[in-house]
Amino acid sequence: MLPHDNLEEFQDPANYDLEEIPGAGARIAFYAALARQVGDPVLEIACGNGIVAIPIAQTGLAVTGVDLARPMLAHGRGKAERLRLAVEWVEGDARQLDLGRRFRFVYITGNAFQALQTRVDQSAFLSTVLRHLAEDGVFAFETRNPAGHDLSDQPDETFWFRYVGVEGHAIEVSGTQAFDPAAQVLHWTTYRRWRDAAGPHVRTTRIACRFTNVADLDVLLREHGFEVTQRFGGFEGEAFAPDSPSIVSICRRLEPGL
Ligand SMILES: C[S@@+](CC[C@H](N)C(=O)[O-])C[C@H]1O[C@@H](n2cnc3c(N)ncnc32)[C@H](O)[C@@H]1O
Repeated sequence: MLPHDNLEEFQDPANYDLEEIPGAGARIAFYAALARQVGDPVLEIACGNGIVAIPIAQTGLAVTGVDLARPMLAHGRGKAERLRLAVEWVEGDARQLDLGRRFRFVYITGNAFQALQTRVDQSAFLSTVLRHLAEDGVFAFETRNPAGHDLSDQPDETFWFRYVGVEGHAIEVSGTQAFDPAAQVLHWTTYRRWRDAAGPHVRTTRIACRFTNVADLDVLLREHGFEVTQRFGGFEGEAFAPDSPSIVSICRRLEPGL
């Protein structure tokens, strides 16, 4: 049980866009190309505020997005409405969802797979995917590769990046990290600092992300009825290498009858 709400990071969706979108181009293109290839209906689990779901809907495909964080869903809905896109937004938990229908393409991105804190949660999520995946459907996702990341404890606050927030203030983002090797969970604390006429401000958020190595991931996928048909180390078609930053997997059902 975490000592904090693991959705703290997702309470300010407008600034989330400003932090995430600049680096998301290749990732959006990767999932949009797959969606085009596989066809709709498309289901994004843990869709956030639609950074990937909206561009896919813009290609004319029917998209449903599910997320646990209400502010993210509300912001996504607003963006889609302004673009006159009929995206379906559903509040739901990736571990328990049952929409009662199947999708040709199911994906989870933004490393949201790592929000699943335990093997039990990962297992419940993969059962959700199977429940919603058409017989000949495709499931795709990425997760950070533990062997491609520095998981060392970093208790001293380190500068990460800076950007101009929605209210026009320069926001400096810094943080610390602590790894729990038994749980395979990395705990990040993020500080966003800015100044305005009232003085200095700080917003502190905590998030825990589980790191799963590629061997364990493959066992997990197989145990839950998935076959990995393609594997990449990033979103530009890079072959997966042991120290790739990401484990990007494209999967199908092992037994289409299930
Ligand atoms: C890093 S964001 C990624 C959002 C989006 N997929 C993207 O690429 O921009 C992770 C998202 O996972 C959602 N999330 C975390 N745990 C969840 C759960 N159990 N069920 C559904 N959504 C969850 C959070 O609310 C957040 O919006």
